[in-house]
Amino acid sequence: MKIIIDTDPGQDDALTILLALASPEIELLGVTTVAGNVPVAQTTENALKTFDLVGRTDIPVHAGADRPLLRPGVTATHVHGKTGFEGVDLPPPSREATPGHAVDFIIRTVMENPPGTITLCTIGPLTNITLALAKEPALRERIGQIVTMSCAFSEVGNITPTAEFNIYVDPHAARVVFESGIPLVVFPLDVTHQLHTSKARLERLDAIPNRVGPVVAAWLRFEKRFEATKYGTDGGPLHDPNTVLWLLRPDLYRGREVNVEIETESALTMGMSVVDWWGITGKKKNALFMREVDVEGVYDLVIERLSAL
Ligand code: BDR
Ligand code: CA
Repeated sequence: MKIIIDTDPGQDDALTILLALASPEIELLGVTTVAGNVPVAQTTENALKTFDLVGRTDIPVHAGADRPLLRPGVTATHVHGKTGFEGVDLPPPSREATPGHAVDFIIRTVMENPPGTITLCTIGPLTNITLALAKEPALRERIGQIVTMSCAFSEVGNITPTAEFNIYVDPHAARVVFESGIPLVVFPLDVTHQLHTSKARLERLDAIPNRVGPVVAAWLRFEKRFEATKYGTDGGPLHDPNTVLWLLRPDLYRGREVNVEIETESALTMGMSVVDWWGITGKKKNALFMREVDVEGVYDLVIERLSAL
């Protein structure tokens, strides 16, 4: 299957890219970067470093939006460190970003391929996707599906009491995407907060007999420093990789078709994902919203795929 990953690396974003590269079922057509965890110049550099780690410089990396549509930028350096990649020192990237804006790459790639054949994996704020939809409205009918790590229901918020980070950073963009009619598959905090990066699981990553396993373990150890302390769990959450892992093994996850709307008005609940889990409103279902995950199955799959790199 053909995918584009729209991302703000971020340690867990980088793991997502690596899992796609490790999976023969997936053809990664390109990566587009966006401002999120850190500013876009840094997320782009981090994406390029990720490809260098496995010697794959054949896949385009296009830099995208440097700020949300309407609101001032928000970063997550408190989780990911100043560079977004703290935990491991990687050499400077061997190449520059591919010329051309991320939004144009998304439009061109989707329009050049048969309708319904491209999956967008969005693991950062949704600014690029909304800009692309504004520039080429035909994308609504052409994108096969958007598989997104974003939102929260029972886990409520991680950047405010009610908002998940990727939605909060650009709630207006998220709203456009959730109202677009494009099939959406959502991996919210409800799923990611079950996947604790426990000591034992990080040791399994360390034991992978290649360069990538220990790097991923060190990245996740860094993320965990903040998140595990905050949540009082044995390990931090594992967010973004669920998008690619679901493409490989949908049987590891369970969810429900629901209506999801994004709050863009209230200062108190800005960026909240309002999930009609019980179908109370009768509004059109616009997303497959995941809630359950086979935790051991996910870690087994991560280990299996990274071992193949
Ligand atoms: C999301 O926010 C980022 O910090 C992570 O990379 C993930 O995409 C989790 O809320
Ligand atoms: Ca991310």
